[in-house]
Parts: sequence; structure tokens; C-alpha cells
Amino acid sequence: MTSSTRASRVPAVRAEGLVKSFGDNRAVDGVDLTVEAGTVYGVLGPNGAGKTTTISMLATLLKPDAGRAEIFGYDVVRQSQIVRQLIGLTGQFASVDERLSATENLVIFARLLGLSRADARRKSTELLEEFGLTEAASRPLAKFSGGMRRRLDLAASLIAQPPLIFLDEPTTGLDPRTRGQMWDTIRRLVSTGSTVLLTTQYLDEADQLADRIAVIDRGQVVAEGTALELKASVGQASLILRLQPGSDLDDAQRVIGRVLDVPAIVSPEAARLTVPMSDPDRVTDLLVAFRDAGVHLSEFSVQQPTLDEVFLTLTGKGVEADTAPDDARELEGARA
Ligand SMILES: Nc1ncnc2c1ncn2[C@@H]1O[C@H](COP(=O)(O)OP(=O)(O)O)[C@@H](O)[C@H]1O
Ligand SMILES: [Mg+2]
Repeated sequence: MTSSTRASRVPAVRAEGLVKSFGDNRAVDGVDLTVEAGTVYGVLGPNGAGKTTTISMLATLLKPDAGRAEIFGYDVVRQSQIVRQLIGLTGQFASVDERLSATENLVIFARLLGLSRADARRKSTELLEEFGLTEAASRPLAKFSGGMRRRLDLAASLIAQPPLIFLDEPTTGLDPRTRGQMWDTIRRLVSTGSTVLLTTQYLDEADQLADRIAVIDRGQVVAEGTALELKASVGQASLILRLQPGSDLDDAQRVIGRVLDVPAIVSPEAARLTVPMSDPDRVTDLLVAFRDAGVHLSEFSVQQPTLDEVFLTLTGKGVEADTAPDDARELEGARA
């Protein structure tokens, strides 16, 4: 094996048995994670599940009590200096000087990273525009809202564009439009070569962004896989059928029973049938049988189980999203 093929096989993150306790609270209780380079990995869990503590250990801000973790093959404890050069962490920019403007802060940050004066200016202007902060660019940072700071934070992490970027709840409390912008930016980061590990309380966010997802609850990974795998582990997809006026629900039910050998859930007022779909191959048979029986459909769709249902099944409880707008700068607490 050549060194380049070996390098490309080294995962961005490999963690085994990570443990961190605060007093007698085992905040992280034996977490294993593998994140392949060039992917988005989502760590999904409710408030207090141990997400921030986990990435704080991966980012060398907290020392694990037990277990080990490597970033691109470098040990987070023994080789923390190297690890720090490979990672970016939102929350770390925090601002150079609160009294200076957003532009000035970004320029200084870029200069610290070694960009020329002209490059630093150009990059800062570009990023502020991309993040919808042009209007506020000349305002002192002290006047920025929580959401604006978060965007500036991510902008700052784009200046260096490190190989691995940790995003701790990047969109918690953001309005839908800003959230969409964040998603686009995260996708762009990955398409230009970075690996992203993000934590989220939002099921749709993990579903939209992440190649793989670890569901974490009370410090433990309770499920891991692609969004599709997680959904499949919980239940099958359903067929949703709506009948045209004049078609008979009883006829439709009989056909479904005969062809698929499963009962349909019927809601008569909506002329709608929901049918568990264990074998997608049989759908064609069903449609042909409907036509032969003179049952006409006005609507036909396939519904996957939602990640909400996944979470409920895995942990026995739903997710209470924390929507406090300015509450996501928890890494500062973890670092203190
Ligand atoms: N610095 C700390 N000191 C004491 N307890 C902490 C500290 N940081 C986190 N915890 C506790 O550890 C658990 C996990 O917290 P955290 O990792 O912040 O969860 P999440 O990021 O998933 O919301 C919680 O019970 C929290 O109260
Ligand atoms: Mg957190």
C-alpha cells in the first residue's frame, strides 16, 4: 500500500470508548465514532445527551477520562498540537476584539492565519456577503445578535478551511432562512474537501445534511447509520393511496388484502388508505389489480418513517428541541 492510499483511508475521526464524567454524571459513557474523510457526520440527540462534551474531547478541549480518539490518525491527547492544526471549531473565533467591526475582526483573524493584507480583505468581504452580513459589516461586534455571531463564526472557520470542521448545533435557534444558508455553506465546505462533524437536535437537519448519523442519548450511541438505515430499522415505508370519487373503499381494501396480504388503514372521510409496504416489488401488481377491479386512484405516494419516529423508537421518548436563540455557545462553557 502506498502512503497516499493509506492516507486516504485514515478516517477523519476514530473514537473508541470515550468517557467523560462531571462528578458522578457520566456525560459521555463509552462513545465509539468513525467519520470517513470527505463526509458530513451528524451526531443527533436531545439537550444534555453529551454532544458538546463529545466534540470537546475530539477537539482537544477536554481530556477523556477513558477511551481514545484520533483525528486523521493523530491522538487527541498525545498529539493535540497536530490535531489542533487539522480542525476548526465554531465558537473558537469568538471575536478578536468586540469593539472592532465584523470586517476588522475577520481581517485580523485572516492575517493571523497568514493571509496577505489584500487577500484578507477580499476573503472577508466575500464571506460577509455570503453570510448576509454585508449591512452589518462595519458595526462593532458587541452589537451583534446571537444568530449573527454564529454566522460570523462559521465565516471565520471558512477562512482557514481546515480539513475537519466541528459544528456544535450550527442552526439551533436560527430563523429558517438563515438555517438554509447554513446548510448550503456546510454542503459547500464538504464539496470543497472538508469533513464536517455536526451536532444537532433537529432530525430534519441530520436527514438533510449527514451522510451518516449517530443517535446519542444519555452519553451513549443508541443507533448509527445512514438516515435511510435508521428509518428502515424502525419501520417500513407506507403507501398512501387516495381514491377517485366513485371508487369504492371496500373494493380497494379487498384488492390490497388479496395482492399484498396485509390490512390497509382506512380513513373513509379522506377516501385514503395507508398500506404497509414490506416489498416494493409488489406495488406494480397492486396497481394492475386496481385497474382490473375498476378502482381508480387520485393520489399515490410512498411515505418513509420520519427520523422523529426513529428517535421515539430508539430512546422511548421524543425530542424536545431547544429553541432558545442565544443558547448555543456552549463550547465556551466546556472550555472553561
Ligand atoms: N462543564 C460541565 N460541568 C458539569 N457538567 C457538565 C459540564 N458540561 C456538560 N455537563 C453535563 O453533562 C451532560 C452532557 O452535556 P452536554 O455535552 O453539554 O450535552 P449536549 O451538548 O448534548 O446538550 C449534561 O448533563 C450536562 O449538564
Ligand atoms: Mg451542546
